[in-house]
Amino acid sequence: MLVSAKEMLDKAREGKYAVGQFNINNLEWTKAILLTAQECNSPVILGVSEGAGKYMTGFKTVAAMVKAMDESLGITVPVALHLDHGSYDGCYKCIKAGFTSIMFDGSHFPIEENIAKTTELVNVAHNLGLSIEAEVGSIGGEEDGVIGKGECADPDECKMIADLGVDFLAAGIGNIHGKYPENWEGLSFETLAAVNEKVGDMPLVLHGGTGIPDDMIKKAISLGVAKINVNTECQLVFQEATREYIEAGKDQQGKGFDPRKLLAPGFEAIKAKVKEKMELFGSVDKA
Ligand code: 13P
Repeated sequence: MLVSAKEMLDKAREGKYAVGQFNINNLEWTKAILLTAQECNSPVILGVSEGAGKYMTGFKTVAAMVKAMDESLGITVPVALHLDHGSYDGCYKCIKAGFTSIMFDGSHFPIEENIAKTTELVNVAHNLGLSIEAEVGSIGGEEDGVIGKGECADPDECKMIADLGVDFLAAGIGNIHGKYPENWEGLSFETLAAVNEKVGDMPLVLHGGTGIPDDMIKKAISLGVAKINVNTECQLVFQEATREYIEAGKDQQGKGFDPRKLLAPGFEAIKAKVKEKMELFGSVDKA
């Protein structure tokens, strides 16, 4: 059964481990992540970006697929279906489609508007039993080939947004989506410690989990991070495994690649990557 992410993240925060949010893009990714969570006896969050939602023909299709797959595979570990970096409209679409968790990314709005919209969405989400994540301090990343430095959140703004009743909070601490540049200065633990101090027991979220050294991940968990988002690393291993398969030329005697066989190595690569992350985050056997 799909559940809200609140309970699993409160438990993670308390138990000093983190639950992975792995983004899904298609059926194979979803199946690989669900099976690995079950094998690891770990709670898991399936993240869906607005772009991935569109690609999969809309949030309604995504929710139907994930619910049916969760049931058909006999998954018993807690699984949350979460909108990643949702717009205001995207949040409402996911609520209607049957998601169990949403992220409202109001970080680009002036703080007053972020507060007003977040307050409204907190009420709607909670009335329906969904969990909600908010973001303060934008998480950088690559845009048109330019890699933006991740912003550091203002701890007072974090406190303001946390007090609106969100269930978990993404605070920018120098983290960015995608690969980190050579000259990346690392996570700002000073900012994380200040945010953690202000927001009490609120589980914190670390976006841009790809490429952060293991010791920094562990330190972040010790300072209140209870949810870590990973996408690019899964993409990279999926790409590599698929490329190797194509280069090996195992086509079907002139019939072209069997799509199921073509995607199988990538599927296995994602399973291995997700397992590695669950072990690192400490969520194995925490279901
Ligand atoms: P990466 O692509 O850097 O792993 O980040 C994923 C993420 O934060 C999704 O919200």
